[in-house]
Amino acid sequence: MTYTVYLRPSNQHFTVAPQETLLTAALKHNLLLPYNCRGGSCGACKATLLSGQISYLEQPTCGDKINSAQGDILLCQAIANTDLEINSTLISRVCEISDIKRMPCRVERLHKLSNDVMQLWLKIPEHESLYFQAGQYLDVVLKDGRRRSFSIASTATELPLLELHIRRVNDGSFTQTVFDTMKVKDILRIELPLGMFFLRHDTLLPILFVAGGTGFAPVKAMIQQAIMENRQREMVFYWGVRSKQDLYMHAEIVAWTKTYSFIRYIPVLSDPLPEDNWQGKTGLVHEVVSQDIPHLVDYVVYASGPPVMVAAAHQQFLAQGLPAEQFYSDPFEFAKDKK
Ligand code: FES
Repeated sequence: MTYTVYLRPSNQHFTVAPQETLLTAALKHNLLLPYNCRGGSCGACKATLLSGQISYLEQPTCGDKINSAQGDILLCQAIANTDLEINSTLISRVCEISDIKRMPCRVERLHKLSNDVMQLWLKIPEHESLYFQAGQYLDVVLKDGRRRSFSIASTATELPLLELHIRRVNDGSFTQTVFDTMKVKDILRIELPLGMFFLRHDTLLPILFVAGGTGFAPVKAMIQQAIMENRQREMVFYWGVRSKQDLYMHAEIVAWTKTYSFIRYIPVLSDPLPEDNWQGKTGLVHEVVSQDIPHLVDYVVYASGPPVMVAAAHQQFLAQGLPAEQFYSDPFEFAKDKK
């Protein structure tokens, strides 16, 4: 038994199977609706239910971002109990992105970038045709069906290789496997390309990247893609970490700023160690940005990293006058396992 979902205002429709989320079904039908984390935590997939009944696979964790009384629903968690009519704006495919694919890949290389960040290179099968935008992410699909999401730190020009930056989380999760037992030639299952976090070129406003920790990964990809495309758009990159050893690709970024005058880089340490002898910026990265750039309206912001940092940046920047449509984010980094 399937249900039909009618989309307004586009008048498109698609079918959805029992227990299948509305977002999954729409993407399967090649209908691109807004989304990001696919885990019920970011609110990006919010839509309005005009008629019909839904229920949730799991109660969303971003309840504060939706008003159920007004018909708000989250497409990534909602399943249909009847035919539905929903209001959600279709996104036109402004750039080349493959349909979402699941495929095996091989661990090609593991390299420790710092005490708790691993650079993992994966290799997809040579025959796979894949295209993604710098900044998108992939899911590693574990044997029990759970997923872990990681931003892709490389660009599509590096295919069949994909670079990930994985921070160790000591909770017995997949990331511990990466550090402790994973080896070259291991096989993983991945699903990609995912997410809507990529550079938009519908404006020439300068770009302000604000990243926390391994939130640097998608920023790295986006800057590299912009360099390759010779965009020369002003880019300012604030990178917030705890101490100096967490700036795991500092030298590479400094090298970019020396070669490309349109890139500026401001590292920010929240807890510098005495031996860091740190003379640079200190504090929470979003607060430093607010102090340094009172006129945020002159920028388009791309924020990535821990959800709490992204949420704080979003709240503060909008309060400071940044229009909501000039804020893009990738807030899934530590979101819970997804089915
Ligand atoms: S809450 Fe649905 S995509 Fe993030």
